[in-house]
Amino acid sequence: LANSLGRTPPMGWNSWNHFNCQINEKIIRETADALVSTGLSKLGYTYVNIDDCWAELNRDDKGNLVAKKSTFPSGIKALADYVHSKGLKLGIYSDAGYFTCSKQMPGSLGHEFQDAKTFASWGIDYLKYDNCNNGGLKPTVRYPIMTRALMKAGRPIFVSLCEWGDMHPALWGAKVGNSWRTTNDIGDSWESMISRADMNEVYADYARAGGWNDPDMLEVGNGGMTKNEYIVHFSLWALSKAPLLLGCDVRNMTKETMEIVSNKEVIAVNQDSLGVQGKKVRMEGDIEIWAGPLSGYRVAVVLLNRGPWRYAITAEWDDIGIPPKSVVEARDLWEHKTLKTHFKDKLTATVEPHACKMYVLKPVA
Ligand code: DGJ
Repeated sequence: LANSLGRTPPMGWNSWNHFNCQINEKIIRETADALVSTGLSKLGYTYVNIDDCWAELNRDDKGNLVAKKSTFPSGIKALADYVHSKGLKLGIYSDAGYFTCSKQMPGSLGHEFQDAKTFASWGIDYLKYDNCNNGGLKPTVRYPIMTRALMKAGRPIFVSLCEWGDMHPALWGAKVGNSWRTTNDIGDSWESMISRADMNEVYADYARAGGWNDPDMLEVGNGGMTKNEYIVHFSLWALSKAPLLLGCDVRNMTKETMEIVSNKEVIAVNQDSLGVQGKKVRMEGDIEIWAGPLSGYRVAVVLLNRGPWRYAITAEWDDIGIPPKSVVEARDLWEHKTLKTHFKDKLTATVEPHACKMYVLKPVA
């Protein structure tokens, strides 16, 4: 979307995956504090995004959305001021339908211009726009109205289309949003996570600066996967130029969770200035190679083992877009080591079950 936002995939946090509807202003404030105190905000995690269930079911007598008094007594504007004072940005949620998915809040369909103005007046920086209770109207009719309204509201607001991929938003999303969901909701399991990566990969060619495919938010730290599985999750999201929106309780992260989501080298792949989404370039049974170009003639590669046994996996230059015979230096992004040997034509590594290796390869001769 031509609003100058999302030149690289957005990074931050969203309340839904961990808290569902059990949110309040204290959680949002403490999360903002935690993003700063852990150092995550310095690594780029700057959006603090409130999901469903923040509003009263009834609009006020002028038709305005109002924050739920019992859980957000200070109101959203005060929260935005607080979040901004920490150098962060505030995201909010609405729905391109008559009610949100939880049915605990009104949707914005038919109220787009009024709600966009409200969001801008509160100092909102990001809108996630959901798809429930939409009266059977086409997304290509409903979504652009809010986008127009936001552009008119006079504040740069990142537009996150949450259409779940039903009507192939990758095909029309670039004019309407800064990101678009390509899948239905992620769950905190290996199968759910990896299948979302697959569904999202199909649309790789449609991603570009200002408009990204969104395979849904991160589950890292929520407890349903092993450490290696969460590393796969984070690696594939980074390579796929997906939004990196943390979905755990960042106020109470384990060392292991922090280690994964704070991996600067993996984040750098996600935020690389070339902005090209990596793809699955080879698959043989449970073995897959995912790769994508980076700035500076470099290539990011994920060697992925989806199966139950350990495998040796080989990435051939021909598959991953490196010119034949190139001599390549390999940086292991999870070991934080540059490999001593240089590689010609291919690189092989042993990969544990439900695990991956991730490298940045740089031709040196
Ligand atoms: C469906 C969306 O896909 C989820 O990410 C979340 O926003 C829920 N709706 C909230 O009800």
